[in-house]
Amino acid sequence: MKILVINGPNINMLGLREPEIYGNKTYTDLLEHIKTHCDKKNIDVEFFQSNHEGAIVDAIQDAYKKIDGIVINPAAYTHTSVAILDALKAVSIPTVEVHISNVDEREAFRKISYIRPYCKNTVSGLGFDSYTVAIDFLEEYLK
Ligand code: DQA
Repeated sequence: MKILVINGPNINMLGLREPEIYGNKTYTDLLEHIKTHCDKKNIDVEFFQSNHEGAIVDAIQDAYKKIDGIVINPAAYTHTSVAILDALKAVSIPTVEVHISNVDEREAFRKISYIRPYCKNTVSGLGFDSYTVAIDFLEEYLK
């Protein structure tokens, strides 16, 4: 099973950005957290992060026929991007939406997610564990 973990804008700034919301750990720590989890479960994992919407669309398109499941934190693009939704629909790869913070308990605009109706599940507010819970869900889903 091959999983692609996609992170959107400013996730590379973890550790520095709003630590009271996102914690003190860095993007590298996040990748380590996910990799350790996947290694234990014998899951093949790839990572992609970009601050650019089109680059995220390209990464989703590149996953076609190569990747079994996608875990995506589109970050701010969650609340704006029809292009990311359309790319996910185009490749039709089972996808779980994740967020580090609890987006439903923050500003009203963060409650809107363009990709949520397409995704098999959403995991939000569990910090870095949002990603590992999403991977466990995909593992079950893809069995
Ligand atoms: C986020 C929540 C988004 O609203 C925000 O724009 C982010 C991160 C999260 O992981 O909690 O950049 O997706």
